[in-house]
Amino acid sequence: MTAGPAPMSSACFPAVALVAGASSGIGAAVARRLAARGSAVALVGRRAPELMSVAAGIRADGGTALPIGLDLSADGGPEEAVARTEDRLGPVELLVCSAAAIRLADVHETEPRHWERQLRVNLTVPFLLARRVLPGMRARGRGWIVTIGSGVGSETVPGSGAYGVSKHALNRLTELIHEENRDHGVRAVTVSPGWVATRLAARPADLGVDSAEVLTPEDLADTVEWLVDRPARMSVGPLVRVEPAARHANAAAAMTRHVGARRARTAAHGAVTTTPREEG
Ligand SMILES: NC(=O)c1ccc[n+]([C@@H]2O[C@H](COP(=O)([O-])OP(=O)(O)OC[C@H]3O[C@@H](n4cnc5c(N)ncnc54)[C@H](OP(=O)(O)O)[C@@H]3O)[C@@H](O)[C@H]2O)c1
Repeated sequence: MTAGPAPMSSACFPAVALVAGASSGIGAAVARRLAARGSAVALVGRRAPELMSVAAGIRADGGTALPIGLDLSADGGPEEAVARTEDRLGPVELLVCSAAAIRLADVHETEPRHWERQLRVNLTVPFLLARRVLPGMRARGRGWIVTIGSGVGSETVPGSGAYGVSKHALNRLTELIHEENRDHGVRAVTVSPGWVATRLAARPADLGVDSAEVLTPEDLADTVEWLVDRPARMSVGPLVRVEPAARHANAAAAMTRHVGARRARTAAHGAVTTTPREEG
């Protein structure tokens, strides 16, 4: 696969970005936006056709995209993603962690294997990716670690289970990276969205919410673009919450209704049901 020609990046904007979870949703939108601003972007995810499609769109617009199809939860996956990016595009100046697994359940109903998987994808993968890129960023005196968290990482929502726990811990991981690296030119932020219209979230109509009231992936791309375009003297966060304006569409309200609807389906069918996007 060819990476395509590299457009010029502005002085402060990251020249090379690795986006984990770039095959759809927020990660795809962020990757497109970074490429439009001149970053050479590595796109990581499991679904090769979707990655190729995002890469083709970026290249058609004159940008540089390197699709890397792999499972980040596999042993060595994060390290391989960084190695392939650095080999083809150069040192990673911006790491965006958008990949996530979600399986909602009360604690006593959470299967250990679902717990392990969500903690692995949502917390350990960002740790392993950050661990791999941070030494180079510190040595160069510049870099960004941006993780996509969740409003339910900051609010205790019954039924948010291992997903909520992993996002809560991700906030702390970002705070640690921020404090440990701020004097080395490296900035770390968790962008923590409420309800965004993607395949991972409930459909607004299913929960009686107007689709115009929820966020779009482009809203999050706007946020990430703005963050990483700040001058070196400026730090934002390390936790930045981005929520729908309407209270009934915010993260806690949306998750509470989503969990309630899931319970109703389970009661009606006599067994645990999942939404199409929940995975174990
Ligand atoms: N949508 C919302 O309402 C909402 C709200 C709060 C927070 N968030 C957060 O936003 C982030 C992006 O989610 P989204 O809404 O954009 O959903 P999405 O479209 O499902 O994006 C998730 C991405 O993660 C990738 N991924 C998952 N497991 C992976 C693995 N093992 N290896 C490699 N890639 C993997 C998926 O790619 P493959 O399937 O191709 O591997 C996909 O590109 C997540 O961190 C999520 O927790 C979303």
